[in-house]
Amino acid sequence: MKEIKVDLSDRSYPVLVGSDCLDHVEKYYPDSTKRVAIVTQKEIGVEIPSGKDYKIFEIETGEKAKSIETVIELCRSWVDWGLTRSDIVVGLGGGMVTDVAAFAASIYHRGLEVVNVPTTLLGMVDAAIGGKTGVNLPEGKNLIGTFWQPKAVVCDVDTLQTLPEREWKCGYGEVAKYHFLGADDMRGFGLIDTVLECVKVKTRVVAEDERETGKRAILNYGHTLAHALELENEFTLAHGEAVAVGIRYAAEVAFLLGRIREDRVAYHEEILNHYGLQMKLGKRINPERIISFFLRDKKSKNGITFVLDGDKGVEPVLVQEQNILEKALEVVQ
Ligand code: GLY
Repeated sequence: MKEIKVDLSDRSYPVLVGSDCLDHVEKYYPDSTKRVAIVTQKEIGVEIPSGKDYKIFEIETGEKAKSIETVIELCRSWVDWGLTRSDIVVGLGGGMVTDVAAFAASIYHRGLEVVNVPTTLLGMVDAAIGGKTGVNLPEGKNLIGTFWQPKAVVCDVDTLQTLPEREWKCGYGEVAKYHFLGADDMRGFGLIDTVLECVKVKTRVVAEDERETGKRAILNYGHTLAHALELENEFTLAHGEAVAVGIRYAAEVAFLLGRIREDRVAYHEEILNHYGLQMKLGKRINPERIISFFLRDKKSKNGITFVLDGDKGVEPVLVQEQNILEKALEVVQ
């Protein structure tokens, strides 16, 4: 088992990556802990060894359940159980579970500690690390939430054994992203090393810009179109699938703006192909609707901000050429 530190002064914490390491979760409970609220979903099927009084709180599956109503229900059932600020919450599941559990923990009794135990590849390489929590609104994804760093993140790759094919693809959508954010070429790496490499990049970026005032936005590479497509398709498109299409689209926008050459676009395709990811949506995209979604994105302050590749690597760029944003959609539909 390897440990990587997220360096955030007094809020620093470890990310553990390995196999058969769930018994480490308990180590991170504060001494004051009397009760452990484990937030999970029925189909996760993973148990955490616990010497403390614990209770399982199951939430529904799917982006629709990633809502403020779910958070309120959780908080109300914690009140019923008598959970206090000196206890702990464990988020056990994919990105949706850890986002919801940590958001509820961050507001319950004005905040209690949380340990994230991701059980999907996507959760291990992205969602469970970095303290972003939140839920969707009908108007968009993750529009309400908090920054609430966990006490620890424990990634046990054994929990991935039963991961459905589509969930693997979702994770690989995020893994592909790290190829453009300074990760080593992970093609040929085993699973643990792949997770470790992604975690290294993510923890580095988060340590530099915890609250996304600048650099952290690069972690959203491919995500602006992805979020719009997920919303447009009422979440029938899985996040990682949408990210793969979004990465190919971002490459096209960068190419049309003269920021990267054809060989770099080809490299994007090579990486996405390597992970078996689709780069096209397979149906027509309505440009007006998609652009209106872009304008709602949290990163859009004075127009449409895109995370784009270029000479200096991937960085946020204000794009004023709406015609290019529309034209680039042609390669991904
Ligand atoms: N998933 C993007 C971030 O953590 O900033």
